[in-house]
This record gives sequence, structure tokens and C-alpha cells, in this order.
Amino acid sequence: MKKKSPVSRSGRFTSGPGADVAAFSESISFDWRLWRHDLLGSMAHATMLQKIGVLTKTEAKAIIAGLDQIGKEIAAGKFKWRPELEDVHMNIESALTERVPAGAKLHTARSRNDQVALDVRLWLRDEISALLGEIVGLQRTLVAVGEHNADVIIPGYTHLQRAQPVYFAHHLLAYVEMLERDCERLWDCYSRVNVCPLGSGAIAGSTLKLDRVLVAKLLGFVDADGKVQLTQNSMDAVSDRDFAIEFCAAGAVLAMHLSRLAEDVILWASAEFNFIKIADAYTTGSSLMPQKKNPDVAELTRGKTGRVFGNLMALLTLLKGLPMTYNRDLQEDKERLFDTADTVRACVRLMSAMLQHTSVNAFSCLAAASDPALLATDLADYLVQKGMPFRKAHHVVGAVVALAEGEGKALNQLTLADLQSVDQTFGRDALGVFDLTRAMAKRNLPGAPGTKEVAKQLGRWRKLLSK
Ligand code: ARG
Repeated sequence: MKKKSPVSRSGRFTSGPGADVAAFSESISFDWRLWRHDLLGSMAHATMLQKIGVLTKTEAKAIIAGLDQIGKEIAAGKFKWRPELEDVHMNIESALTERVPAGAKLHTARSRNDQVALDVRLWLRDEISALLGEIVGLQRTLVAVGEHNADVIIPGYTHLQRAQPVYFAHHLLAYVEMLERDCERLWDCYSRVNVCPLGSGAIAGSTLKLDRVLVAKLLGFVDADGKVQLTQNSMDAVSDRDFAIEFCAAGAVLAMHLSRLAEDVILWASAEFNFIKIADAYTTGSSLMPQKKNPDVAELTRGKTGRVFGNLMALLTLLKGLPMTYNRDLQEDKERLFDTADTVRACVRLMSAMLQHTSVNAFSCLAAASDPALLATDLADYLVQKGMPFRKAHHVVGAVVALAEGEGKALNQLTLADLQSVDQTFGRDALGVFDLTRAMAKRNLPGAPGTKEVAKQLGRWRKLLSK
């Protein structure tokens, strides 16, 4: 015989749901992970109920002690989750009421509708903080790899064709910048997650004189200036999940950035590029081809972007047709939200670990970066400095490139006479343009990949990230 739960459906119902309905509608299999936040929310609610006189001091104390004990059992893996009790809220409340009779008063002026909105917000606050920490970790790795290979120059690409030389560190710092904007987006999202919905009840608040401010303060729903953050409309509070959508949107942009980094890593690790070598522990072999070493961490990071984008689309679609206010559809928000959080966090962490175990093949990088064609634009700039309009300079250098190609020579193998056969403006100093070290020293605009500027940017990030 199944034990009857003190919170099981009462009064109105003559029977419980059928087994198939129960299995279809349970959420305990995934929302159990909200348990810490559910306990915290209930403790704050109980404290408030005591303050307004619904609970005696003794009752409130017993409830909080009971919740604390349940928390210990869950943490120790000793708590028995009961699927017939549907979700994490009912499981915890039921276990509490079995132990503490006053537990039956805990749900006063509270509905699972505002309770679940609260729990998800509390959970997401922690998740965002943890994710931000992981992103900073990846940024630090990128800066460290850049510093460790500060002299390495590679071709920069547009259209995946060699374009102009850049420091390897400059390429990595591009991702540090992207990740910084991801952090800003997550912080911005945090400010809207960090608003307390408790007290909204099922839809219309309560006739009891709750102290919403006290609950919000106890749960840390305050902004940077210490101002208490309460939802201002009970119907909005129980029915919208835009804060979760925002997180999934910020997560989708983050995943997109990680996927691009992954793609670069995959290209760089190929024999064609051979710019980097990923440590064995972060690669896998082929079951058939003995020579293979595959960049699976990067490939999976790229691949998992699909599900992160999908989660965002699922949540948008979930919400779009819902009439006000709470509908059970909303239970479907959690797995998508959890999946985005887990996926992006794992990708950030693994990409960081992989990059810490990746070495740069300075020789291959130099060989690729020494292609003098990468400095064709510098040659045009040289002519501009001699007074030639840029459009004409572009045309002249184009003709020089064609000449070199025709003669099967690299650009820097042309003689002064060759250059002057195209245009008389070229002087003796023209061939000096192809000195890579000098060329890199010249690119010192803010944000450019010049020697001094990249060192400056590395220093700036090192300082920013050490805080
Ligand atoms: N498990 C539910 C959810 O995740 C909790 C809220 C249920 N509320 C209700 N009135 N049935 O949305």
C-alpha cells in the first residue's frame, strides 16, 4: 500500500491521477535539482509567516529545523523522492508535514505557481554567477596562451583566405572581447532574474498581510544599491519566463562564440594549418585509422551549439501562445533551461582546459605568416605615403602581384627594377616593406595587431582579469 501523503490531492478529488497521467505529468525526475532553492524559499516564507502571526515562534522553528534536516538528507542522497508527488515542491512539503505537524501551515498564502517562479529565479542567480566565473577562467586561459606565445605571428584570414599578418595573441584576444560581452549580457540578465515573485500566490496575491519585502531581503533580492526588488504584478510574476529566455538567449550567443573558437581550433589543428597541437588527453583516436588524432572537445563544443540554439527556440515557442496566467505548459521550461546552463558551462570549462593543454607550433605559424603576399596592403600604403591616391596604389600593387605571379616569384623576390617597371614611384626602400618585424611594429592604432598595441592589450586584460 502506498503511503498517503499529507499534501496529496484532497477534498475535491475522489481518486488520484492514473498511473499514466502521473508518469506524464511528473517533474520530480528533473526539478529535484531545485531542492536547495526550494528549501531556502520555504525557510524565508516561514520566517515571514511567523512575523505576521500565522506561525508561532515554536512552529516556525520546528519548520525551519525540519527543512534543514530534509536538506541534509537530500545532500547525503538519503531522501526518497516520490514520483506520485509530482514535483520537488510537493515532495519536500510532504516530507516536512509528515515530521512537523505545523508544516501544514507552510503553504499559507503561497501557491506552487509563485513558488516555482521563485525557485527558478534563485537557481538561475546561482547558475549565472557560476557561469560568469567559468567564462573568466576561459578568458584567463586565452590571455595566458597569448602571453606564452607573444612573439608568434599568423596570417589573419578573411573569406578563409590569407589576408594580413596578426599576432596569434591578437586572434585570441578577439575571443576575450567576445566573452566579455557575453559576461555583460549575463549580468544584465541577472538584474531581471533577481526580482522576488513570492507573495504573488496562484495569480492574485493573498488577502493575508504578507511581508513581501522581508522575504525578498532574506533571499537577497536587492540590487547593487541595496534596493529591494519585488515583482510588481502578480499575474506577470507567475506566468512569464522571459528571464529564463534571456538567459537562454545570452547562452546561445555565448555558445555561438565558443563554436567559432572551436572551429578555429579545429582548423589550426589540421595538417593543412598545423598551427597548434592539442594534448592527447583532449583528443581521441579513430577506431579504424591508426594515425588519426581528432579534436573532439572542439567539435563537440561546436556541435552542442545546436541544442543551445534549440533550447532558446523551444522556450520562445513554449511561451508564445499561453493565455494568462500560469499554465502547466510552463513546467516544460526547466529541462530546456537546465540543458542550456549545463551545456554552456561544460563547453566553457572544457574549451579552457583543452587550450591549457595545447601547444603552438611557432615554426609553422612563422612559415605561414612569412608569405609576403600578406604585406601587399603595406606596399600600397608605401605608395600612399609617396603621395599616390590609394585607388591608384591598389591598382599598381595589383599589377605587381600579377607580375610576380607571372614570373613564379614571391613578392619579396622582385627586384627594384621589376617594381619600377610597373610604376616609377617605387624607390629603393620599397622592398623593406616585406620585413615582417617592421611591418608588425607599424600597426599601432588602438585595437590593431601591432607589436606595442598587442602587448598593451595583453597587459590590460591581464590586469582586468586578475581582479
Ligand atoms: N511543477 C510545476 C512547474 O514546474 C509547479 C507548478 C505547478 N502548479 C500547478 N498549479 N499545477 O511548473
